[in-house]
Amino acid sequence: MALFIILGICLSCLSFIFLWNQHHGKGKLPPGPTPFPVVGNILQIVTKNIIKSLNMLAGEYGPVFTVYLGMKPTVVLHGYEVLKEALIDRGDEFSGKTQSSILSKVNQGLGIVFSNGETWKQTRRFSLTVLRSMGMGKKTIEDRIQQEALCLVKELRKNNGSPCDPDFLLACVPCNVISAVIFQHRFDYNDDTFKGLMNNFHRSIEILASAWIQLCSAFPVLYCLPGSHNEFFKISTEIKEFILKEIKRHQETLNLSSPQDFIDCFLIKIEKEKHNKNSEFTMENLVITIFDLFSAGTETTSTTMKYGLLFLLKHPEVTAKIREEIEQVIGRHRSPCMQDKNHMPYTNAVLHEIQRCIDLVPIPLPRETTQDVEFRGYHIPKGTRVMICLTSVLNDDKEFPHPEKFDPGHFLDERGNFKKSDYFMAFSAGRRACIGEGLAFMELFLTLTSILQHFTLKPLVNPEDIDTTPVQNGLLSLPPSYELCFIPV
Ligand code: HEM
Ligand SMILES: *[C@@H]1O[C@H](CO)[C@@H](O)[C@H](O)[C@H]1NC(C)=O
Repeated sequence: MALFIILGICLSCLSFIFLWNQHHGKGKLPPGPTPFPVVGNILQIVTKNIIKSLNMLAGEYGPVFTVYLGMKPTVVLHGYEVLKEALIDRGDEFSGKTQSSILSKVNQGLGIVFSNGETWKQTRRFSLTVLRSMGMGKKTIEDRIQQEALCLVKELRKNNGSPCDPDFLLACVPCNVISAVIFQHRFDYNDDTFKGLMNNFHRSIEILASAWIQLCSAFPVLYCLPGSHNEFFKISTEIKEFILKEIKRHQETLNLSSPQDFIDCFLIKIEKEKHNKNSEFTMENLVITIFDLFSAGTETTSTTMKYGLLFLLKHPEVTAKIREEIEQVIGRHRSPCMQDKNHMPYTNAVLHEIQRCIDLVPIPLPRETTQDVEFRGYHIPKGTRVMICLTSVLNDDKEFPHPEKFDPGHFLDERGNFKKSDYFMAFSAGRRACIGEGLAFMELFLTLTSILQHFTLKPLVNPEDIDTTPVQNGLLSLPPSYELCFIPV
C-alpha cells in the first residue's frame, strides 16, 4: 500500500515537472490555464459545458490558447479570423487528424475521416470525384433523393395525422441515400438488415460521444478495463462484415465498362492499380471508406432534419413563408428539384439558419499539426492536437446580430435575396472540410420541401413552449426528443 502511495506521489511530481517544462520552457505554446498534474485542465473544461468553458478561456487568453486534456497539450483555435487563417490560408499545416486510439484501432489509418498523408489525400480526392460524377449520370444523386423523399411522404401518410416521433423515419432517409449511392439500392423501412445497420451506426456514435470514451482517449490505459469500447469493437466488426458482403455481391456482377455505384468505381480503381504495390486502393481501404461515408453522412444529416423540424414547429410564421414559396415555385403536382432552390431564397436562408442555430458539430474531432508550425508568434510542434471551435464562428455577433436568435434574416439581404456568408462553417472549411456538403444540402432541401408540400406540421404543445436547447452529447448537438402531427394538406 505504502509503495503505491509513494509511487503515486513520484508520478504526480514527475508529470507536474514535465507539464511545467512544456508550458513555460522554450516551446512557446500559446498561453492557457495552468494544468494540474496528470489530469491537466480536464476538470476545468470537460466537467462543465465544454463550449462555454472554451468561450470563457478565449475571453481570458485570446483566440489561440493551450489546454491540457490529460498530459498532452491541445491548442484551441477560436473565432473567424484564426480559423480562416489556420484552415484556409495554411490548410496543409493544420490538416492532420489525431489518431484517437479507439478509432485508429477500427480504422487502421484507412478511409477518409481518420486517415492522414497520402492515404487520406488519394481516398478523399477519389471519393469526391465519384460523388460529383454520380451527380451527372443517368440516375443522378438528385433522382435518388427525390425517390427517397417520396417514400418518406408515403410512410408519413400512414400515420393519418396522429402524433409521432419523427426520429426513426428521418434517420432512414440519409441512410438510404448513402446506400443508394454506394450499394445501388435502398432498403425498405421495415427491412431487418436495414434496422440492424441503422441501430449499429446510431449506437456507435453514441458510444463515441460518451464521456467514458473521451476519458479513454486521454488515458489509453483505460482500454484494458471492461467498458463500452468493447461493444464499439463488436459493432464495428458487424458493420464491416455487412459491407464486405455487399462488396462481394458487386464483384460478382461487375461490368468494368459501366460502373453503377461507388463500390463499382472503387473496384475498377483497384483493378487499374493492381500492379502498383503501394496503391492506396485496396479492399481494406474500400471497406473503411464506406464505413466512413455512412458514419459521417447519416447521423449528421438526420439530426439536422429532426432539429430543423423542431425549429419549424416553434416558428410557424417562418414555416408559412416557406409554404408560400413552395406554392409559387413548385406547386402541388411535381417533386421539388434542386433548380427550385434558386427561386426560393427564403427557404434557402431558413435551411442555412437552421444549420447555423443548431450548431451540429460545435467542435469537430481533433486535428493535429502535420509539421512544426509558427502561428501568430507561437511555436506549435508537429503532431500537436488542435481543436477548432466552429461554434465560435457560427455564433459571431458581428456577422449574425443576436446569434442566439433563430432569424432567417441572417442569410437574406434587404431585398430578400439569399445572402451567402463566409462565416457559415457548419461543414467546416479548407482541406478537411466535409465532402458531403453538396449531398447533405440536397437532402435537406428536397426532404424538407417535400414534407411541407404534403403536410402541415402540428405541434402537441404551444409553439412558444417548445424548448430547442440542445442535449449536448460531446460530439453532436442533439435536439430533445419530441412528437408532432403530420396533417395531410
Ligand atoms: C448536415 C450534414 C453534415 C454536416 C453538418 C457535416 C459536417 C462535417 C464536419 C463539421 C466535418 C469535419 C471537418 C473538420 O474536421 O474540419 C465533416 C467531415 C466529413 N464529412 Fe460531413 N457533414 C454532413 C454530412 C455529410 C455527408 C452526407 C457525408 C457523406 C458523403 C459526409 C462526409 C464527410 C467526410 C468523409 C468527412 C471527413 C473529411 C476529411 O476528413 O477529409 N458528411 N462533416
Ligand atoms: C457492359 O456495359 C457495356 C456498356 O454499358 C455494355 O455494352 C455491355 O453489354 C455490358 N456487358 C455485360 C456483360 O453486361
